[in-house]
Amino acid sequence: MYRLIYKSRAARELDWPVVEDILHRSSANNSLAAITGFLRATRSHFLQVIEGRFEDVNETFFRIARDPRHERIQLLSYEVVDARLFESWTMKGIGILDANTALARQLIAKYGEQDGGVRFPLEAWLALSMIHDIRAIQELPEWKR
Ligand SMILES: Cc1cc2nc3c(=O)[nH]c(=O)nc-3n(C[C@H](O)[C@H](O)[C@H](O)COP(=O)(O)O)c2cc1C
Repeated sequence: MYRLIYKSRAARELDWPVVEDILHRSSANNSLAAITGFLRATRSHFLQVIEGRFEDVNETFFRIARDPRHERIQLLSYEVVDARLFESWTMKGIGILDANTALARQLIAKYGEQDGGVRFPLEAWLALSMIHDIRAIQELPEWKR
């Protein structure tokens, strides 16, 4: 089992329909390939975790990387793992579009700010720590529109 984590910058300011389209496509493709994961977005950046078999993670990542809706992709990690962290999600999408929510303020205080939203870390362990914090603070909410 492999886990890949990357951060990227949105080509244009993100809004709900863009993310909804990504998640819609992802759930069908990912369930076919037994990919699970987590996608988080601010108005300007994505942070994604992709888990699955080596070939499936590889193929999915390179397809995602060619998507013109984002750029400046930074690979945080691609490693062998014992088990999935997101076993029940074909791609769980959450995001904080409004930096004034209590959750966003807490995350910005801890991880820093970028373009008015929380700054996604470049260290894999810190990115996973942030994801754990989100889980702990708020049982993985759906997107806040
Ligand atoms: C930030 C981001 C994350 C994405 N995540 C996934 C994903 O997990 N799985 C997936 O199949 N497509 C994902 N996509 C969409 C792919 O880039 C691509 O548009 C899609 O897989 C094409 O699917 P289709 O050939 O079924 O239309 C993502 C796109 C972006 C911009």
